[in-house]
Amino acid sequence: MIKNKMIFKACIFDLDGVIVDTARYHFMAWKRLADQLNIKFTEKDNERLKGVSRMDSLEIILELGNMKPDRKKKEEFAALKNNWYVDFISRMTPNEILPGSLEFIQEIRKAGIKTAIGSASKNTPMILGRVGIEKLFDAVADGNIVHKAKPDPEVFLTGAHMIGIEPDKCVVFEDAIAGVQAALNAGMMCVGIGSPAVLTKAHMVVAGLHEMSLSKLKKIKI
Ligand code: G6P
Ligand code: MG
Repeated sequence: MIKNKMIFKACIFDLDGVIVDTARYHFMAWKRLADQLNIKFTEKDNERLKGVSRMDSLEIILELGNMKPDRKKKEEFAALKNNWYVDFISRMTPNEILPGSLEFIQEIRKAGIKTAIGSASKNTPMILGRVGIEKLFDAVADGNIVHKAKPDPEVFLTGAHMIGIEPDKCVVFEDAIAGVQAALNAGMMCVGIGSPAVLTKAHMVVAGLHEMSLSKLKKIKI
C-alpha cells in the first residue's frame, strides 16, 4: 500500500476572485457610486479593494475623493453600492464559476478532504446559491458571522473550527494580499491565486484553480 503523505485535511477557499469572478461586479457598483460622488475611480484603484470589507472599501474610495462624510451618510453610500451589487449578482449563473474550480473541489472531496468557504462577503450565501455550489462545502465562514477583516485570521480560524480541523492541517486558497496574510496569521498553508510577483508570501501561486490538482497540492512546500 502506498503511504499517504498528505499533511493537510482541509481546504478553505476565499470566494470572490478564487471560485467566482465577482470583482467586476464590485467594481461596476463602486464605480457607479464614485461617479455619483464625482470621485475618480479606476480599475487600478479597484485592486486595493480586493478582500477588503464593504465599509473599508468605501473608506478607500472616499479618501480618493478627499471626502469625509458623517457615519449616517457613509452607511447610506454603502447601502446604495450594495443594492447595485446585489442586483448584478442576483443574475449570476453557474457559467460564472471560474474554470477548473468545480473539478478541483470535487477531486479533493472525493479524496476525503474537507472543504470550507472563508470570505469577508456578507453576500456569500446568495452567490453560492446563484451559482449552485452550496453542497460542495462542509462549512461557510463569511462576513455574516465573522467581524474582523483580513489580514486578521478570524475568518479562516472560524472555517477550520466549523469543520473540526486543526489550522496547521488546512490549506487556504486566496487571491488578495490581505487574504494570504490572514492565512499565514492563522498558521495555515496558502496557495495564492494570481501573480507570484504580487502574492509573494504564499507557499505556492497558480493563475487559477484550473492549474490545481490533488497531486500538485501534495507538493506544496512549507
Ligand atoms: C470580498 C471582496 C471584497 C468585498 C468584500 C465584502 O472580500 O473581495 O471586494 O468588499 O468581500 O463583500 P460584501 O459582499 O459583503 O460587500
Ligand atoms: Mg478574494
